[in-house]
Amino acid sequence: VNISHANSRVSAVLPTGESVEVLLFGATVISWKDRAGNEKLWLSDAAKLDGSKAVRGGIPLVFPVFGTAPDHAATSKLPQHGFARNSKWEFLGKSSSESALSTTSPSDASVKLDFGLSSATLDEKSKTLWPYTFSAIYSVTLTTEGLSTGIVITNDGKEPFESQVLLHTYLRINDITKVEVTGLEDSEYIDKVGGVQTKLQSGAVTITGETDRVYTPAKGPASPVVVSEGGETAFSIVRDNLKEVVVWNPWTEKAAGMGDFEPKDGFKNMICVEAGSVRAWTNLEPGDVFDGAQTISY
Ligand code: BG6
Repeated sequence: VNISHANSRVSAVLPTGESVEVLLFGATVISWKDRAGNEKLWLSDAAKLDGSKAVRGGIPLVFPVFGTAPDHAATSKLPQHGFARNSKWEFLGKSSSESALSTTSPSDASVKLDFGLSSATLDEKSKTLWPYTFSAIYSVTLTTEGLSTGIVITNDGKEPFESQVLLHTYLRINDITKVEVTGLEDSEYIDKVGGVQTKLQSGAVTITGETDRVYTPAKGPASPVVVSEGGETAFSIVRDNLKEVVVWNPWTEKAAGMGDFEPKDGFKNMICVEAGSVRAWTNLEPGDVFDGAQTISY
């Protein structure tokens, strides 16, 4: 496994050709390619990669609040989606199956990249807005089968705190009109478009306009949520300890309104399917740990 750590980013390439690239800013995965070099994630052409703004595309990490929460005192002052995606994370190191097991064949190779953020390394402004003592480790694991991203959050302080977490994954697809998301049948969801309402999904999800929904999949986290295109599976997402799935596509007008969304018709080539724990608040008592992850295969 070939690892490079330069230019405020970490990248890894497996012997078989799969690759991943993570920006230290936000620990944002900005590229994930299969062995043929096909990009699996959507990244805006106008995404800021210099730390001036959260990245538009890839996998921004949402913590400790999903959206904004004006009624939740502890996070009400935080920017939309919290500070994790706007913070400089530390690269903690890598472990690869190749080095652990020299007999591993190239087709079994994998690499795990670990990133850390804690109240000790957080910038002063965020610390003032959210004064809890915590540490977070975010692991990005690339295998020949897919990509896993997981976060472990520990309350290192003396006060309990409540938080939400979401893996805001922008999947790259060829044509949104041919996309179906299955695995969400008969699931309750909060529809955030046109006034917040709770609804029930019947059948597969298709995207024909602005879509912003928080699903609580009826089948539970281990049952995959599948994104297919023209009837063929493009991605299959399995969650671990993340109850909800957000499905988001900005469509024409919202994309036009986002300065960092380019090309403007790029919404045809992306769908966000976001694993998270965002409907309720996860309470962590001192010493408690929260662990949530997703595995995306194709
Ligand atoms: C989604 C939310 O997760 O993120 C949407 O459900 C939001 O409501 C979208 O518009 C993008 O958010 P942002 O802050 O990256 O523009």
